[in-house]
Amino acid sequence: MKKIIIAIDGYSSCGKSTLARQLARELHYTYLDSGAMYRAITLYLIREKISPEDEKAVEQALRQITLSFVPDPAGGTAHMCLNGEDVEHPIRDMEVAGKVSAVAAIGAVRRFAVAQQQRMGRDKGIVMDGRDIGTVVFPDAELKLFMTADPEVRALRRYKELKAKNLSVTLEAVRENLRQRDHLDETRAISPLRKAPDAVVLDNSHMTAAEQLVFALNQVAEKCPAVGGL
Ligand code: CDP
Ligand code: CDP
Repeated sequence: MKKIIIAIDGYSSCGKSTLARQLARELHYTYLDSGAMYRAITLYLIREKISPEDEKAVEQALRQITLSFVPDPAGGTAHMCLNGEDVEHPIRDMEVAGKVSAVAAIGAVRRFAVAQQQRMGRDKGIVMDGRDIGTVVFPDAELKLFMTADPEVRALRRYKELKAKNLSVTLEAVRENLRQRDHLDETRAISPLRKAPDAVVLDNSHMTAAEQLVFALNQVAEKCPAVGGL
């Protein structure tokens, strides 16, 4: 059966990784979380006390960084590894969330991450989510989805998720972090968050995870019938 690339872009916390994971499971594809790579680079810079403004130091740091995805021991989604260390948990905290968009705006960081993402997509059969997947990483992806949802719905979703992981956070802090990240991601000079002209918009403000999967599988069936959707 024909294998394709599915690119999912959009705003923070609207359900991109949830949908990407669901699609990968349904189609027996690999799910790749490009945001986890930017988060892992950010974690490294925080630990090494390197400011994103010091571009020379950031470039040197990139030479010390190896990123990889390893299978989840519990059988779930692959975990992000930074120089061999499983950092899936620490990359989700608010300190990383507060700095990641500044790090992701740096040209050298984007070149580093995009080159690796493109290598990971060489054999197709992948679902990747992020901000520039349909515009820059895989401009020829067979299916592109652009996800959005009401900002308050997104803040609540992320807040509940972090609380469920026992992270100490307030709704107001989450709301402000999403607002700032969306702004930085949309206004940066290199690869800003944009809907690709050929992307299908999915506003899931009033959709459950099950409903958004049905929507996406219908798109797969319509745009790429050889893949097999529903
Ligand atoms: O899960 P959430 O939507 O909150 O964020 P993420 O996908 O983990 O991405 C974290 C940050 O990485 C984003 O806010 C962007 O600044 C950056 N990012 C990016 O610039 N390009 C991507 N392809 C993916 C993430
Ligand atoms: O990857 P992104 O930041 O876009 O969002 P996510 O991590 O997939 O989803 C953020 C939260 O919203 C998770 O806790 C999902 O379970 C939840 N979610 C939801 O409640 N309803 C949806 N239709 C999609 C996601």
